[in-house]
Amino acid sequence: MSKVFIMDTILRDAHQSQAATRMRTEQMIPVLPALDEIGYYSLEGWGGATFDSCMRYLNEDPWERLRTLRKYLKKTPIQMLLRGQNLLGYRNYADDLVEKVVEKSFENGIGVIRVFDALNDPRNIESSMRAIKKYGGQLRAQDPARGICEAAISYTSGPVYNLEYFVKLAKTYEDMGADNICIKDMANLLLPFDAFELVTALKKALRPETKIHLHTHNTTGTGDMVNLMAIKAGVDIVDTALSPLGNGTSQPATEPLVATLKGTEYDTGIDLEKLIPIAAHFKKVAAELEKEGVLNPKVRQVDVNTLIYQVPGGMLSNLMNQLKKAGKEDKLQEVLAEVPKVRRDCGYPPLVTPSSQIVGTQAVMNVVMGERYKMVPKETRDLFAGKYGQLPMPVDEEAAEKVLKGAPRITYRPADDLEPEYEKLKAEVVSKGYYTQEEDVLSYASFPEVAENFFKWRKAKRDGVDTDLAKTGVYPV
Ligand code: CO
Repeated sequence: MSKVFIMDTILRDAHQSQAATRMRTEQMIPVLPALDEIGYYSLEGWGGATFDSCMRYLNEDPWERLRTLRKYLKKTPIQMLLRGQNLLGYRNYADDLVEKVVEKSFENGIGVIRVFDALNDPRNIESSMRAIKKYGGQLRAQDPARGICEAAISYTSGPVYNLEYFVKLAKTYEDMGADNICIKDMANLLLPFDAFELVTALKKALRPETKIHLHTHNTTGTGDMVNLMAIKAGVDIVDTALSPLGNGTSQPATEPLVATLKGTEYDTGIDLEKLIPIAAHFKKVAAELEKEGVLNPKVRQVDVNTLIYQVPGGMLSNLMNQLKKAGKEDKLQEVLAEVPKVRRDCGYPPLVTPSSQIVGTQAVMNVVMGERYKMVPKETRDLFAGKYGQLPMPVDEEAAEKVLKGAPRITYRPADDLEPEYEKLKAEVVSKGYYTQEEDVLSYASFPEVAENFFKWRKAKRDGVDTDLAKTGVYPV
């Protein structure tokens, strides 16, 4: 059986990529029962930016969203994205908080957790993986489709990123207990023939029971071909998004792939007819999001910049914005030539958040100042010092000297420096009068100011003390 499984990202990455993560729970509910009948491997519905966006823009409790999804999705596992030791936020968290987030995610309805580290440092996901195995294992004992640990490799291109590198990393993650290995190509840098080679090599190297899951986007227009070539090489699961929010910066659309594979040995088993009414619903939702001004139809166009410059689309627009601010827009070509040099100096990190911003900003500074590493932001220093994790290659010593100026480097796991923090954060939430559930502490830990504003709004709405505030629907942030 070489049946291909599909994870649909319509409830998470699709609207994160195309509509600033603004789809509301009420826009999902009407079709959840129908989505549950499709026969997807999983539905991605939580994690990533949804957690932040729910509280910041939508006045929704992200945990309540998860519980709602679970209420309607009785058969299909809900998949989430976890940023390793950074969890649902952007800083390193202590291990006790990592364990709590994983425990509560499963408890509130998650079935599959995809965990990754931007630098591909296994030490940055080991604590999450331990928790996923522990709490997921308990879930799995009752239902083998849930409690799955999916470890993701941040895919990138560059001199050190050859087959050997990816296979070695995948085997490390498999040995750490991963049930699935995901190739996470967030910037659509993976090209179709490379995808074929990579999946072939992984299939050969990994255990037969380990599933390979491919995540790409269609930013550069290669997404469907990437998926198809990966399927030819034996990939088990691919990510797609229903057509109204598919393609462009989002995942390749679901329906064309289902039709393409129908009747072949890779048949997904999904009935195209059943997708039609669901797609019709999301077409209306997409139109609403466009009307609100959060979806610009331009995101659906093919953007070939990544193919030409070898930097992710988001990074390129950041570079152009920074140059514009400095009034040096004419320096773009110089900056694009400087990016690979800075990247080499700091040990070839994958170009994904946050390293793409760090490398990009440093490249802009090197060019604008007319001297390399004359100006060095804290983030660059931390990257060189190992505070984001181990870099794939040694740093350039000459550059490191200029950047660090004798500041200490660490070689241990960055989170080893952190004291347990759950109880302290809980005490803060309680003393401020916002505590209603353990999950509130995790929301507060992830985005303290955003969560506090949301709690204030929620309290006002519940107590009716400030009905105007509750009615506006948006608390000033
Ligand atoms: Co993505």
